[in-house]
Amino acid sequence: TTIWVPRDSAALAAGADEVAAALATEAARRGLAIDLKRNGSRGLLWLEPLIEVATPQGRIAYGPVMAEDVPGLLDAGLLRGDAHALRHGVSEQMPYLALQERLTFRRVGLTDPLSLDDYAAHEGWAGLKAAVALDSAALLHEVTHSGLRGRGGAAFPAGIKWRTVAHAQAVQKYIVCNADEGDSGTFSDRMLMEGDPYQLIEGMAIAALAVGATQGFIYIRSEYPHALATMDEAIARATAAGWLGDSVAGSGRAFHLETRQAAGSYVCGEETAMLESIEGKRGIVRAKPPLPALQGLFGQPTVINNVITFASVPVILARGAQYYRDYGVGRSHGTLPFQLAGNVKHGGLVEKAFGLTLRELVYGFGGGTRSGRPIKAIQVGGPLGAYVPEHQWDVPLDYEAYTAIGAVLGHGGIVVHDDTADLARLARYAMDFCAIESCGKCTPCRIGSTRGVEVIDRITRSQGVQRAQQVELLRDLCDTMLQGSLCAMGGMTPYPVLSALNHYPQDFGLARDGAP
Ligand code: NAI
Ligand code: SF4
Repeated sequence: TTIWVPRDSAALAAGADEVAAALATEAARRGLAIDLKRNGSRGLLWLEPLIEVATPQGRIAYGPVMAEDVPGLLDAGLLRGDAHALRHGVSEQMPYLALQERLTFRRVGLTDPLSLDDYAAHEGWAGLKAAVALDSAALLHEVTHSGLRGRGGAAFPAGIKWRTVAHAQAVQKYIVCNADEGDSGTFSDRMLMEGDPYQLIEGMAIAALAVGATQGFIYIRSEYPHALATMDEAIARATAAGWLGDSVAGSGRAFHLETRQAAGSYVCGEETAMLESIEGKRGIVRAKPPLPALQGLFGQPTVINNVITFASVPVILARGAQYYRDYGVGRSHGTLPFQLAGNVKHGGLVEKAFGLTLRELVYGFGGGTRSGRPIKAIQVGGPLGAYVPEHQWDVPLDYEAYTAIGAVLGHGGIVVHDDTADLARLARYAMDFCAIESCGKCTPCRIGSTRGVEVIDRITRSQGVQRAQQVELLRDLCDTMLQGSLCAMGGMTPYPVLSALNHYPQDFGLARDGAP
């Protein structure tokens, strides 16, 4: 009997290795033949470690399983998929999974992440094989027509970025994957790298063919040691198998790939600071222009995309641009892996086409708060994203609709807060975070964030006219940071601050209409 125990960091943190060891020992003691396999996570994180048993009905899920549950599970007939208090039925039929639209995460949790056979058996390399048969113009057309936009947060059309690099004249071009996933409540990049590393490799190889790059780097945050080790091993195996190296998939064209461990700073996820870091320098933001697409790594034309952007490319080539484009709404095509975190009952990864609502996500999938208290605010898009109040929870999750309400989808991180949250404290936290993480290059961010903390303190401590003056000062400061910062760090810190102030004025000691 085959039993799957995830090797994803989230499962390991919850004791997956101990469960695997207990299964091996207990099965040996009882003389049971089990084939223990390690998969990625299904993304139902509140059920980790979620183990699965292969049965004629399909894989049956049990979770959260602790090592001490193993003897009882075996007594109850785990190997036949029999009933138990921890049993959830056929994995794919669990509503949390069945209701998703998994394109990028379709293999994650299903396969052994490092098995080339598993990958090939589940549509792996189909995109790269199709890409090898196309010329650069046709490849760029496919990616552009798919409507794929940058999944790191900025949502810039991937095809247009790639075209800029493809048309640049240079001896050397680079592909750089930004895996410095630093947003609060996000983990999709990590889950993808640990759960389906070949898909990222395949996407980057397709990008290399499209623009004529021969060298790539994956910049992985230092807090992700398992992702780094998985990617290193996957690159070695893919190279040995001829999918990378001097002749990518038999194309006669070279693409070499290496990982780099990130420097442990939030701002190194900003693309130009990341380039500095890869070049071995301190992570300071570069002024744009020149765009990295024209003068990027070591001054050469460089495609920089996030993990999920590259990982979305293979399915586009394998199933066609139109197939991908048909998912989503408006100008937001395809799917986004949303990440439910914070005070939520069922935290985890939900890949859906754009257009569903926050309410559907946090109640339908998330099941409300873990504390059981009412939800007060939901921060969407990381620490620099806005706090979204209840009257906006029915706005469709698409890039333009969110821009229209002064919010951002960002990298798809959703952090839920219940009614005990103090939004003035969270606004202060945003300014403080910016003060700590600022690279220091420009004044609105370096000085503004520190002044921002002080002004918020004065608002919460003062009253009447004084308070009104300080609120005005905070708005003025936010305006300066929004307009005058060199990058998104200082430029977006006003999003959480102003949304907190505008939607939760009572937390700042103001009347509901914002009056002092
Ligand atoms: P941006 O809007 O300046 O640029 C977007 C991308 O398009 C960049 O790669 C840029 O080089 C490229 N680009 C722009 N014009 C181009 C052209 N004409 N040709 C080719 N390429 C072009 O945004 P930025 O500053 O790169 O990213 C900000 C976003 O990052 C925010 O919206 C935020 O959501 C997100 N973010 C994500 C984090 C994460 O952990 N994933 C952390 C912090 C912020
Ligand atoms: Fe550096 Fe902040 Fe200016 Fe960005 S906004 S360049 S992080 S000082």
